[in-house]
Amino acid sequence: MLKGKTIILGITGGIAAYKGAALCSKLVQAGANVHVIMTESAVKFITPLTLQTLSRNPVYIDTFDEIDPAVVSHIHLADHADLIVIAPATANTLAKLAGGHADDMLSTTLLAATCPVLIAPAMNVHMYEHPAVVHNLELLSSRGAMFVEPGTGQLACGYVAKGRLAEPEDIVAAIESWFSRGAKLKGKRVLVTAGGTMERLDPVRFLTNDSSGKMGFAIAEAALLMGADVTIVVGRTTAALPAGVKVIRVESAQQMLEAVTNRYDEMDIVIKAAAVADYRAVNVSEQKQKKNGEKIVLELERTTDILETLGQRKRHQFLVGFAAETEQIEHYAMDKLSRKRCDLIVANDVSKDGAGFNGDTNIVQVFGPEGLVEAMPLLSKREVAVRLLELVAGRLISPGGIAE
Ligand code: PMT
Repeated sequence: MLKGKTIILGITGGIAAYKGAALCSKLVQAGANVHVIMTESAVKFITPLTLQTLSRNPVYIDTFDEIDPAVVSHIHLADHADLIVIAPATANTLAKLAGGHADDMLSTTLLAATCPVLIAPAMNVHMYEHPAVVHNLELLSSRGAMFVEPGTGQLACGYVAKGRLAEPEDIVAAIESWFSRGAKLKGKRVLVTAGGTMERLDPVRFLTNDSSGKMGFAIAEAALLMGADVTIVVGRTTAALPAGVKVIRVESAQQMLEAVTNRYDEMDIVIKAAAVADYRAVNVSEQKQKKNGEKIVLELERTTDILETLGQRKRHQFLVGFAAETEQIEHYAMDKLSRKRCDLIVANDVSKDGAGFNGDTNIVQVFGPEGLVEAMPLLSKREVAVRLLELVAGRLISPGGIAE
């Protein structure tokens, strides 16, 4: 899939530099011509010889160590690259890129490059959440950089948190998706809902659900990589927000309804991955409720079904719903598809290990008006997102009714 593509792989100085070797190998196996640039710090974690052997090309470290006297290396590399991938990208490298510094081979090449840049950050969670790093990520994103978000798990520093480099296969999937489908959603405005809603009972208590936002965020990231203009409407989440998308924060189902319907007319594609409360409290206490007796009864009323509302108002929009089910998947999914007038329904059997809420993986079946369209095995939510958007892109119909 990457045959004939020239990719510069920038490896910077974090423990995840070792994963750069696997990434390099996978890119070469996929047919790419890979040129590795390492920072001085990266060399402390992994040897240039490893990367030279895997890439079958010289590895660049020092700007002044001109390997071929016929060319100026950083300009030559920058001019011939189809894509620059920085994995892992440390906080220091992000700061240098954001500030336009050019004090080593990687930063100098990046400043000279006009091709797209894909950044896979990796660092300690507190560093990742530091306002300076957040600002740099936003700045780079506003200049068009693409990102593969770090994963959550055991960090080398001992924390179990967000910050570990995305797995090499996920980075390769993002690269392949950019090359093969890069323009498929170009110019399309995509709205994704993510996370769970919170229905207040009183100022300190609320009803919610287990949604982390990961599925919706993966879709938003994949849509961004495919060239879309992406807005996310986000309820309660435990995952970090993706960079490069417009973010609207909401709490309740009612707020989500308003946020989505207010923007609906200008959207081409709406994907409702959020877990929205079906019921809310009839009476929300303004004061903290006092203990009162052994039992209490909560009176709940139905919330508005946002997806159904969108289905009723649908004009040009392509509407994708989710269905979180534990039984009779096809039956309930097809019922939701027709009742809510969706173009596709993504059903996840949330009783299965590795599917549904919270984790980094999902197992989904996608249904269209004709029935089952695709049954996906256990995949990362990122890969599910890419495959789903591929289906959406293939089904987009122009206002004149001609497939684009
Ligand atoms: O966020 P994660 O931790 O990654 O988990 C992902 C997920 C399990 C939340 C996601 O994959 C998923 O299944 N989202 C939909 C969950 C859900 O609310 O399913 P449902 O079957 O109850 O609702 C069907 C559809 O109607 C959904 O698109 C939902 O957004 C929508 N809905 C439901 C109720 C309501 N009042 N308004 C709605 O729009």
